[in-house]
Amino acid sequence: MKTVIYYYSYTQKTKLAAEALGKVCGAELREIQETKKRNKLNALFGGCPAGLRHQASSIKPVDVNLKNCDPIFIGSPIWAGNAAPALNALLAQINLKDKNVILFFTMRGGGGKNAIQYLTELITAQGGKVIDSVIFRSMVKTEELTKQAEDFGKKYKK
Ligand SMILES: Cc1cc2nc3c(=O)[nH]c(=O)nc-3n(C[C@H](O)[C@H](O)[C@H](O)COP(=O)(O)O)c2cc1C
Repeated sequence: MKTVIYYYSYTQKTKLAAEALGKVCGAELREIQETKKRNKLNALFGGCPAGLRHQASSIKPVDVNLKNCDPIFIGSPIWAGNAAPALNALLAQINLKDKNVILFFTMRGGGGKNAIQYLTELITAQGGKVIDSVIFRSMVKTEELTKQAEDFGKKYKK
């Protein structure tokens, strides 16, 4: 079974965590990208309300074939206490039934627990199983964030 890591990243912190996890777990990385590039104002005044309402944004095509794939990591920055809208778009497309899912988030301060609770309920309702979750604080040095992600990923090394 192949480990797959889906992630969305706006300022590259979640990407850093995803790459560190991917290195340790030997996983395939599948980046989620929005079709429209956001500027900071749009992230704040468009992305935050959308995140709060669990709305999806428009994303570029991403491989959602999970045949022979498990576990599935899913990662996002926290926006207004929730997952970024691009992640909601992925979850609307993907079938996580019978999959073991690991959620990971990066954030500066707080609010990540809401996101974990909401996504766990959503994925459970789809028949998936959230087996683990982690929040990485992104205000640390690059090496520290990488180390934290690598240490977490060791649990899922095959
Ligand atoms: C639009 C927006 C909203 C954010 N909201 C929160 C928040 O509610 N709580 C928090 O701790 N950090 C918040 N942040 C900070 C990001 O979650 C944090 O910097 C994250 O690590 C960025 O990940 P990325 O580089 O992968 O985009 C927000 C950042 C942006 C751009």
